[in-house]
Amino acid sequence: MNKNTKLNKGIFFVIEGIDGAGKSTQIKMLADWLTASGYDVVVTREPTDESVYGRTIRAGMYGERSTPEEELDLFILDRKEHIRNLIAPALKQKKIVICDRYYFSNIAYQGAAGLDTGDIRRLNEAFSVIPDAVFYLRISVDEGLHRIQNIRNSELTSFEKADFLHKVKEIFDAMADEYFHRIDASVGAKEVSEQVVEIVKEMLYR
Ligand code: TYD
Repeated sequence: MNKNTKLNKGIFFVIEGIDGAGKSTQIKMLADWLTASGYDVVVTREPTDESVYGRTIRAGMYGERSTPEEELDLFILDRKEHIRNLIAPALKQKKIVICDRYYFSNIAYQGAAGLDTGDIRRLNEAFSVIPDAVFYLRISVDEGLHRIQNIRNSELTSFEKADFLHKVKEIFDAMADEYFHRIDASVGAKEVSEQVVEIVKEMLYR
């Protein structure tokens, strides 16, 4: 095991997918693999727990929905603070940042809620750091919901209703940037992790 592997620049990974795709498990597995390989890793998530906007979003998730426009504003304000306070500084320090959801969720979820996906993308790309790789954990809506109910055994949030998630998935499925990697997440966690690590290795060692 090599310790303190130095990078000459920061690397920014994003994990995306519908609810129940297994993001948390995969983030942990990727972070553990990177740490064991000697890299300095920061794991973070959106909506954040740090900004007043992120906390407002999380507090509202189980209740009445605000309008898609209000949601978009909150997610964007939260993301601006997140980039300024955490993501950009960590990348400057040449760390590897792994973010659980980013503006691709904004495009997919607020797009599914009726906003124009092109507009959401443009608004975000005007200020956001573009990731080096996005891992989209692809799973069916039925499987995703099944996993949430099994794991969490709790009520669904307003973002987790089946019809809505079908639209979210459709939008994720249509994304095609060259840094956007579609991963089959219907298989076991270990197999999914191997697919992710394979791509990461190629990026680190090329
Ligand atoms: P999630 O990662 O599911 O949080 P947790 O697993 O801790 O409950 O994120 C919360 C919800 O926020 C999720 O259903 C997707 C939604 N979301 C958006 O609608 N737009 C966004 O821009 C982001 C980042 C998340």
